[in-house]
Amino acid sequence: MSEAVSLMAAGEVGVITIDHPPVNATSAAVRQGLLRCLEELEQDARLVAGVIACAGRTFVAGADIREFGRPPEPPRLDELLSRIEQSGKPLVAALHGTALGGGLELALACHARVADPGARLGLPEVKLGLIPGAGGTQRLPRLVGLERAIDMILSGEPVTAAEAVATGLVDQIAEQELVTAAANLAVTLARAGSWRRTGALPVEPGDAARVDALAARLLRRSRGQHAPERALEALRAAVILPVAEGLQRERRLFEESRADPQSAALRHLFFAERSTGRTEGKAVVIERVAVLGAGTMGSGIAIALVDAGIEVALIDSDPASLERGEARIRDHYQGLVDRGRLVPAQHHARLAQLSASSDLQQAATADLIIEAVFEDPTVKRELFARLDAIASSSAWLATNTSYLDVDAIAAATARPERVLGLHFFSPANIMKLVEVVRARATSADALATGVALARKLGKIPVLVGNATGFVGNSMLQAYGRENQLLLLEGATPWQVDAALESWGMAMGPNAVLDLAGLDIGYRARRARSDLPDDPRFFRVADALVEQGRLGRKSGCGNYLYAPDGSRQPDPKVITLIEAEASRLGVARRSIDDAEIVERCVLALVNEGARLLETGVAGAAADIDVIWANGYGFPRFRGGPMWYAAQCGLGEVVAAIQRLAEIHGPLYWTPAPLLMRMAQSGEALFS
Ligand code: 3HC
Ligand code: NAI
Repeated sequence: MSEAVSLMAAGEVGVITIDHPPVNATSAAVRQGLLRCLEELEQDARLVAGVIACAGRTFVAGADIREFGRPPEPPRLDELLSRIEQSGKPLVAALHGTALGGGLELALACHARVADPGARLGLPEVKLGLIPGAGGTQRLPRLVGLERAIDMILSGEPVTAAEAVATGLVDQIAEQELVTAAANLAVTLARAGSWRRTGALPVEPGDAARVDALAARLLRRSRGQHAPERALEALRAAVILPVAEGLQRERRLFEESRADPQSAALRHLFFAERSTGRTEGKAVVIERVAVLGAGTMGSGIAIALVDAGIEVALIDSDPASLERGEARIRDHYQGLVDRGRLVPAQHHARLAQLSASSDLQQAATADLIIEAVFEDPTVKRELFARLDAIASSSAWLATNTSYLDVDAIAAATARPERVLGLHFFSPANIMKLVEVVRARATSADALATGVALARKLGKIPVLVGNATGFVGNSMLQAYGRENQLLLLEGATPWQVDAALESWGMAMGPNAVLDLAGLDIGYRARRARSDLPDDPRFFRVADALVEQGRLGRKSGCGNYLYAPDGSRQPDPKVITLIEAEASRLGVARRSIDDAEIVERCVLALVNEGARLLETGVAGAAADIDVIWANGYGFPRFRGGPMWYAAQCGLGEVVAAIQRLAEIHGPLYWTPAPLLMRMAQSGEALFS
């Protein structure tokens, strides 16, 4: 078996190469190999210096995340890196691909860094609920100053090679072959007889007021999360403590974050997001797509496709809507040019990929047709029936419907096996989630093609079954229902929103309804025959619409909106809710935040379990990925099903049963799957 790390002499330089696919993570074998090669390099009198480089697609992309849940194996990465920093021969890191986390920390412990022009460097540990644990919080500020280090570590965002050179993080961008460039620099350092040890440098503390303001802004953005707070504490220690003590402080804080349930939740999502959308089928490469409907969704989907290099024919039967949709897309790209995010040549190329028409015939050459017209079953079925005569026989047909039956839509064509759902979320060029819907006849190849396309767009595809609202919106209905009942029973829209936002939801449900437009749900509910026979069901939202309060777009909904878009509570909404409650005979009482969170979140969990049992959701992890990426569920809680597993399924069932005693069984009958698992001790996650 080939070694994960090897040493080869290139003249007087020892090149240490890490070859540990897929991403050269510092697993135990890599740490052991690095230590062995370092000792060999130091002992070999012919070698005056060393290079640390990687084979494959990337420099080390971090510590091995799978090892965090297991007992540690020696040597520890932080100790190994201190050993590298103290080496008697200069070592240069040769960086390509993504030098992340423990990978960048390895580079920081070397005595100089050379980067490929396309390299990206970052410390993304906070995204896994961790802090850099192998010197990153102590060495990075010594190279780039405290302010930049706070920015990189608290945001977790990578920088480009050019940015890294400008800030002093990297010494050179390789103008020749990377390892040769690094070897040349290593020899120069050896000849000079002196090289910098990062840990020996002073920290540039920067302007205190600016640093504090930056830290406060980044902490606000990661509200509820422990890791950024811990990372900041470690970074501040770099300024006031000698490096050895700073490293010890970092280690303690790293261990605390590793043991924190928030990190387990975030690591769960990291792997869950990479496990969704696995299919048996064979994906076909999509080069040309026709998007039908140039409204909110059609124009967003078109942007996502164009950005991925795909040719798009945007088609809308209404010329005025087509013009508006096209203008939205042009404005989007112009905005990117204005902000310096797109150069004129790229701008031109993007627009050249797009054509717009009112003629459905323009879909004839498409490999895939994505329908995003009105949410009306008759309109959609008629359109699909027409597509049969127009679309190429090898074309795939997808619908972006939110709630409609994909089987019924597929049945309008003579090729139901080529029909699938591709449920994008709004705004479609930004939101990562795509539910890939499997209808009864959908072929495995159709699903694989939808999954591959979504990944090409940089999205996270999750396979779901064909049920009203699929997985995400079915659960949203249960969550929204509890929100609405809480309003009738005595909570205010702003209390519900504040309670759920401080629990971690990106936005409270009432603010979300206002943003989406209350009329959309109102119309959708009227078109459905499967809703509970309960006059309280979404009654507050409906009453708001009946009073012309449609949400942000009409200046008022659950809230009152100022022209700048800021929201404020509106006493008229309370009057409206009180009138509805009294008409329906609902007694109002004071409701605390804990009840709001419990009812809304347990409604999600119970519905999620039902969808899992019926196979509409393929795995508990899929549900978590959907809610974390489509609905603003706090990532640090891992998703609703992970949260339920952490609470304990026995506790969850008992809580649902308590709610059933108070509110009746209509909404609070525990899902049979939860009951069974709670009784048998079977786990939601293996
Ligand atoms: N540990 C273990 N496995 C990893 C890994 C890691 N650090 N990074 C990626 N992988 C695995 C993925 O799970 C995936 O496995 P699979 O094929 O079985 O699903 C495979 O490598 C490829 O990963 P991606 O599908 O994500 O490939 P991409 O090319 O899209 O992205 C990447 C590559 C940018 C490196 C991305 O994987 C990534 O961001 N990885 C995580 C980086 C990170 O968070 N590093 C910090 C780790 S914590 C740390 O270093 C602590 C230290 O301070 C002590
Ligand atoms: P929209 O009303 O903004 O746009 C629909 C467009 O389709 C209009 O421009 C209309 O002129 C056009 N159209 C209608 N019939 C047509 C036909 N026969 N042929 C060609 N064009 C036709 O609607 P929106 O919001 O973009 O929704 C589109 C679809 O996406 C719906 O099925 C909706 O349920 C779904 N969806 C909407 C989301 C949202 O947040 N708006 C989120 C996810 C899915």
